Amino acid sequence: MSDLATLTQQALDEVAASTTLAALGEVRVRWLGKKGLLTEQLKSLGALPAAERPAAGAKINDAKQVVQAAIEAAEAKLVAAEVEAQLAAGRIDVTATGRGEARGGVHPVTRARLRIESIFRHSGFEIATGPEIEDDFHNFEALNIPADHPARAMHDTFYFPDGRLLRTHTSPVQIRELRKGRLPLAMIMPGRVYRCDYDMTHSPMFHQVEGLVVNENVSFANLKATLQGFLQAYFERDLRTRLRPSYFPFTEPSAEVDMSCVFCNGEGCRVCKHTGWLEVGGCGMVHPNVFKAAGVDAERWTGYAFGMGIERLAMLRDGVSDLRLFFESDLRFLRQFGAA
Ligand code: DAH
Repeated sequence: MSDLATLTQQALDEVAASTTLAALGEVRVRWLGKKGLLTEQLKSLGALPAAERPAAGAKINDAKQVVQAAIEAAEAKLVAAEVEAQLAAGRIDVTATGRGEARGGVHPVTRARLRIESIFRHSGFEIATGPEIEDDFHNFEALNIPADHPARAMHDTFYFPDGRLLRTHTSPVQIRELRKGRLPLAMIMPGRVYRCDYDMTHSPMFHQVEGLVVNENVSFANLKATLQGFLQAYFERDLRTRLRPSYFPFTEPSAEVDMSCVFCNGEGCRVCKHTGWLEVGGCGMVHPNVFKAAGVDAERWTGYAFGMGIERLAMLRDGVSDLRLFFESDLRFLRQFGAA
C-alpha cells in the first residue's frame, strides 16, 4: 500500500503526457481497466488484516477517482482542441481577394441567332424548331425535290444506313409546321444543318434560319419588306435590298436576297468583290406542290419563305473573314465577343 501515492502520481503523469484521445484511452485501460494497475491494487486487500481492509479499500477507490477525474478533464481539453483545429482548417477568409476566374460567354453564332430571333419576335413571328435527323420526305420530297432532281446534287447530304439523313437545310421544318394545319402563320425556324463541305466559307455543320409566312393574301412585296426590315434591324443601319431572280424547287418565283454592302455602303470593296452587294439568302413564294405535300389548300393560302445562313450574318456584322474561326474554340477569337 505504501506505493499507492507513487502509482497515482505515475498515472497522473501519463494522463498529462497524453496528447491524443487515443493515447488517453490507452492510459485509461492501463490504470482503470478491469486488469488496470490501480484496479489490481484492490485484489491485494485480501492479504491485509480484516480490520485494515475498509480504510485501505477506500484509499484505492479515492486514488482511482483522482485518476478518473484527471482523465475526464484531459479528454474535455483534447476534444475542445480537436474542434478548434477543425474550425480553423475550415475557416474562410471572407476578406480575401477573388481569384479572377473568367466568366463564360455566349458563342458569337448563338448571339447572332438570339439577335435574329428577337428581331423577328418583335414583328410577330413565332419561333419553331425541327429535328436535325430528317427523312427524305421532309428534307427533299415534300419540298418538291424528287429523287432524280438535280437540286439534290447541290446538297452533299450525309446519309444514315437506314436512309435517314442529317438535314441539309432548315426548309423541312416548313413542312412539319404546315402539316400541323394551324393557319395563318408567321414563323422563323433556326437551327443546325449539315453538308459534306469544308473551306473558308463552308463548314460541315452550320446554322440557318428559315422564314415562313402563310396567309390569304401574301405577296412578294410583303416578302421584300420583311427581309429589308429584318436586315436593317439586324445591321442597325439604312441599307438597300434587292431580289435577284433565281431557282429553288420549293418556291416559285424564287430569288436570291442581296443587300447593299455593309462595309462600303454599296460603293464597291474587297468584301463585296466590287459589286456593292452582298448575298445573304434565298427566298420566294411557296410552291403549290409544297402546300399540296403538306396538306394545305393552295387555292386558298399563299405564302412566302426565305432562308439565310446565320454564320454569314454573324460574319458580316462582326467582320469575321473565315467561317472556320467559329468552330475552332480558340479563346483568343471567342474572347473578342465577350466569351470566356
Ligand atoms: N433551303 C435553301 C438552302 O438551304 C435556302 C432557301 C432558299 C430557303 C429559298 C427558303 C427559300 O425558304 O425560299 O439553300
